[in-house]
Amino acid sequence: MKLAMVLMLVALPVYCSAGSGCSYLERVISDTSDSSVTADVYLASLQEYISSDDTTQAIKELRECFLKQSEETLENFSVFMQVTYNSKLCAAF
Ligand SMILES: *[C@@H]1O[C@H](CO)[C@@H](O)[C@H](O)[C@H]1NC(C)=O
Repeated sequence: MKLAMVLMLVALPVYCSAGSGCSYLERVISDTSDSSVTADVYLASLQEYISSDDTTQAIKELRECFLKQSEETLENFSVFMQVTYNSKLCAAF
């Protein structure tokens, strides 16, 4: 959950203030915990933010942490993120 918060805090101000709403962030978060999205597709979707092999490796490891969680944990994570998107905090950006 700590990592999720980091992802969220890093990404929210960028995407929610760029006039695109939070849809990019929502997709990244949902892809993060969706095992049907392959690692290659996931990394490709983040391509423009990856500047080194170290970053690629860190993202792979981070995502593996998510994919190892139980379905119930991922479901709870998803619910938590939905609550966050729907909160006034997101609109405030
Ligand atoms: C998921 O959320 C429910 C409801 O808050 C809770 O009872 C349950 O323990 C949570 N499960 C996990 C794996 O975190």
